[in-house]
Amino acid sequence: MPHPDHEKNRAAWNEMVGIHYDHPDYRTKEFLEGHSKLMPIERSALGDVRGKTLLHLMCQFGLDTLSWAREGAIVTGVDISDESIRRAEQLAREAKLSAMFVRSDVLDLIGVIDGQFDIVFQSYGTYMWISDIQKWGKVVGHYLKPGGVFFIADTHPARPMFYDPPISYFATSPDRATGVPDYCDRDYKIKNELVEWQHPLSEIINSLIDAGLTIEHLGEYNKMYYAEESDWVRGSDGYWTPPSGPTPYPLMFSLKARKR
Ligand SMILES: C[S@@+](CC[C@H](N)C(=O)[O-])C[C@H]1O[C@@H](n2cnc3c(N)ncnc32)[C@H](O)[C@@H]1O
Repeated sequence: MPHPDHEKNRAAWNEMVGIHYDHPDYRTKEFLEGHSKLMPIERSALGDVRGKTLLHLMCQFGLDTLSWAREGAIVTGVDISDESIRRAEQLAREAKLSAMFVRSDVLDLIGVIDGQFDIVFQSYGTYMWISDIQKWGKVVGHYLKPGGVFFIADTHPARPMFYDPPISYFATSPDRATGVPDYCDRDYKIKNELVEWQHPLSEIINSLIDAGLTIEHLGEYNKMYYAEESDWVRGSDGYWTPPSGPTPYPLMFSLKARKR
């Protein structure tokens, strides 16, 4: 039985993905010219991926998935959005890269694809769309080979405490929004409802430990993977900070864990 709020997000992402695909911030054109979409944090954490199998959860239209494929990984991308998967498959054909893309809710993935992977990867705008982090951890653990690596880089769960108005670090009810601006094209107001959940870092870490993973590294950063406001400044490493300079609180975290 599909999760009703995840289905709302599916409709919203189906609405948004075309905007992102064509938006200069996503650099789809540059990717097709040979540029990689990967950022320094995940590159240095995962190193040489040649010949490794990689499962990318919540991959949108596959720019990062296909960037890993270009680095030599054998990739599978999963996303809940039909339009994301359609565009990911189209992008793989255009880029002449081999990849498998699967449409599924990440929480319903077990049984949809077979096998286990050397790497499970997730990045930049993902866990807040998941209603049940404990169940998500089980999916990650299920698809990792023993000794396999899970890596995530994303918004730090403390970040919403510094929004105006703030969101509690321990909020248990999801945040529901309609008519919010798209994060690339701020003139476009998203018609479908978006439902986001707040998950403390302890919840994320403990779900992975409970799923049989050992945490190897936790990173915290006062820079962001996108411009939260149009006046944010992009550094030479590709990450963004407010015009006033680095924040006194974390904007992103990263986590590397290994299946026992
Ligand atoms: C910010 S995007 C992906 C991040 C990637 N770094 C990017 O920008 O292309 C978030 C993605 O999560 C997907 N998503 C949201 N909820 C999901 C769910 N329950 N299961 C699988 N994918 C989901 C959306 O469809 C969207 O493509």
